[in-house]
Amino acid sequence: MADVQENLISRRSIYRFEEKPVPRECLEQAFEAARHAPCHKQTHPWRFYVLGKESRAHLIDTVEKLSREKSDRLGETDVEKMVAKARTKLFDPPVLIAVTSDRSSDDLFREQEDYAATVCALHNLVLSLWDQGIGCQWSTGSITRESITYEILGVAAAEQRVIGFLKVGYPATIPERQKKPIEEVRFYLA
Ligand SMILES: Cc1cc2nc3c(=O)[nH]c(=O)nc-3n(C[C@H](O)[C@H](O)[C@H](O)COP(=O)(O)O)c2cc1C
Repeated sequence: MADVQENLISRRSIYRFEEKPVPRECLEQAFEAARHAPCHKQTHPWRFYVLGKESRAHLIDTVEKLSREKSDRLGETDVEKMVAKARTKLFDPPVLIAVTSDRSSDDLFREQEDYAATVCALHNLVLSLWDQGIGCQWSTGSITRESITYEILGVAAAEQRVIGFLKVGYPATIPERQKKPIEEVRFYLA
């Protein structure tokens, strides 16, 4: 159990990865952990799409367009530098996984419960990878909400929602994070 606690506490979002490839067996072990996440009514609302280089290349025009728009909004002076950075963010992670959750347009409570379950599955995936020495970053950047993304995944936006991209790879650096002290978040009531 000490190992589990250490895994939970030591996990950090990873923003810089080594070039080393992530073995397929490591991913499969993590997907196995993901599919065992809790879900109410056994809906299994999560789906994981691993995007190869070709799929990512289809996103590049939109990523560049979004980056130019963002630079414009923020009044960035070096727009080309921002665009190059956005391109790097798309291609640098050794593995890129889009995570979707089922929609239920006629039952918003079900959709919310399913979203919660998908987040549990996503985090099972992240923690399993972390246990294998592999880091992740969850990203909800604007590309995750673009129609081209749904097109490339082959999913209907009315049926599934992309809840984020997971960038996955061996950590080049592990950032430090301050967390809220336990006294500020935990309350025992009489
Ligand atoms: C729902 C969700 C969305 C996130 N989206 C982004 C994102 O778009 N870009 C980013 O840099 N980090 C993103 N993160 C990572 C958080 O910034 C990170 O979890 C937070 O800074 C705490 O750090 P830790 O994960 O190392 O504990 C996201 C995390 C969550 C839970």
